[in-house]
Amino acid sequence: MARRKKIYEGKAKILYEGPEPGTIVQYFKDDATAFNAEKKATIEGKGVLNNRLSEFFMTGLTQIGVPNHFIKRLNMREQLVRAAEIIPLEVIVRNFAAGSLSKRLGIPEGEPLPRPIIEFCYKDDALGDPLVAEEHIIAFGWASQQDLDDIVSLALRVNDFMSGLMLGVGIKLVDFKIEIGRVWDNDYQRLLVADEISPDSCRLWDIETGQKLDKDVFRRDLGSLSDAYTEVARRLGVLPSNVTHTTKPTLIN
Ligand SMILES: Nc1ncnc2c1ncn2[C@@H]1O[C@H](COP(=O)(O)OP(=O)(O)OP(=O)(O)O)[C@@H](O)[C@H]1O
Ligand SMILES: [Mg+2]
Repeated sequence: MARRKKIYEGKAKILYEGPEPGTIVQYFKDDATAFNAEKKATIEGKGVLNNRLSEFFMTGLTQIGVPNHFIKRLNMREQLVRAAEIIPLEVIVRNFAAGSLSKRLGIPEGEPLPRPIIEFCYKDDALGDPLVAEEHIIAFGWASQQDLDDIVSLALRVNDFMSGLMLGVGIKLVDFKIEIGRVWDNDYQRLLVADEISPDSCRLWDIETGQKLDKDVFRRDLGSLSDAYTEVARRLGVLPSNVTHTTKPTLIN
């Protein structure tokens, strides 16, 4: 196969030019980073799990009519997506207090919030993705008021879908982050859910035990990240229950 043009290499994924205009191939790496890339590691199998899980969530969103960039999975580590102009915001939805919200406001981790709370961070690694207000977003032209209304509605629909799905397999969706992209259909612009939805971008706690099944396992050194992600995939039926990602081909003779 001809070498593809690399468009971008981020911390968790590589983007290549897709086979048709307006498409991109997302390659999921095994790299894990936290604290604005101060902590780094390679976790064998993470890319494969996130590729499958993001496919699973995006396909489910398509089924309930939530527009997103997913077109099809190409192989273990790659998926074809619709190219979008990414709005430079991390859109965070929180159902329970955790992480930076707990730190900022002194609310103990795990406390239920009165309703889902949406926060926006400006996507800029050099600045550490700072929290911004709608005022900043509109004044600096990152998104319009109409865009923001659409983003909030998309984020809440993703939250409803993901919360329900997780609840069904005994997992609490504490919070998550999505990115939103802009695409053009003729003269009309539309917003869609882009990037990825995976245990890298969610906080997932087992309902019974409170065990963390997301990237906090890596951030806080709580054990094997790939075991945690495999557990999420297994419960959702994304991986057959008798197969783990670490299974290597064995020679049969
Ligand atoms: N459909 C899409 N079209 C164009 N770009 C996309 C799309 N989906 C995701 N992206 C972008 O692809 C990149 C994915 O790479 P990765 O997640 O590794 O980035 P990152 O290291 O988190 O850095 P950053 O998100 O700050 O660029 C991100 O920049 C993301 O915004
Ligand atoms: Mg990213």
